[in-house]
Amino acid sequence: MKHLRSLFDLAINEFHEVLALADELKRKMASGDRTELLKNRTLALIFEKSSLRTRVSFEAGMIQLGGAALYLTNDVGWRERESISDFVRVLAEYCDFLVCRAISHSTIEELASHNVIPVINGLTDQSHPCQALADFMTMQESIGNLEGKQLTFVGDGNNVARSLLNVCALGRMKFRLVGPKAYHISSKLFDRAREHAGWIDFDQCEEITPMIKDADFVYTDVWTSMGQEAESASRNAAFRPYQINASLMAKAPKHCKVMHCLPARRGLEISDDVIDSENSIVIAQAGNRMHLQKGLLVWLSRQNKITIA
Ligand code: CP
Ligand code: NVA
Repeated sequence: MKHLRSLFDLAINEFHEVLALADELKRKMASGDRTELLKNRTLALIFEKSSLRTRVSFEAGMIQLGGAALYLTNDVGWRERESISDFVRVLAEYCDFLVCRAISHSTIEELASHNVIPVINGLTDQSHPCQALADFMTMQESIGNLEGKQLTFVGDGNNVARSLLNVCALGRMKFRLVGPKAYHISSKLFDRAREHAGWIDFDQCEEITPMIKDADFVYTDVWTSMGQEAESASRNAAFRPYQINASLMAKAPKHCKVMHCLPARRGLEISDDVIDSENSIVIAQAGNRMHLQKGLLVWLSRQNKITIA
């Protein structure tokens, strides 16, 4: 069974298939065509952490495709009333897809290991594949062919950065990370991403100018991710030199676009003037979450033979 536990689940041709489907569905929707490719199908959502974009974009997207989304709250007793194994095997009797936002990546692996329902990672401590796929779509819309273009991530080598590393390798973009060394991406992950995509162009260091001077896109995310709140004072101190503001952007090319997965801590990792500048594409990124995930759901339904149309 095909899942999206992380971007390691997508081969290069599959990565391009998902993007092409998302693009097609987005264009069709703009022209008033809302073909119900997932009519009467159901998507369950379990979230162990807060969400606006992931939750609502999956729910709205599923409804637009003619199906329904069930957002499961505490009363289903997730992790309290029964084992994950019983929970997911029962859920698969009713639903066609499952999105899970989990504190630990191992939860996604465990859900998928039963192979009873396609499991989609809606963010874990390790990765955020739907975000990175949607970001690739947004970058493509913004400047066209991305091969050889450069994305520079400024800040924490976190779940979002790690998934961006994967999409850059799959899409043949250069990926740079700049931030304090203690928060860099591990060489193990970098090796695995290179092996998976058969290619990589990656570098990371603490010095801003060399990492940013050729960037086509500059990306940041919060310095303190959900669940790391106890570390926020030390993180704020470590990352302060890496705020994306006007003086940092002055080191980047004029055409360079600004990205953030949102939610943003304005005044910390990014200044108001930059996130609201005309080079900012953060709202387009959020919008594409829905279009990308519609493409992903239809692609998964075809892979797993649960398509009705
Ligand atoms: N970017 C993102 O995943 O946002 P949410 O946490 O609101 O889902
Ligand atoms: N890195 C952030 C992303 C939120 C969408 C977090 O995990 O909290």
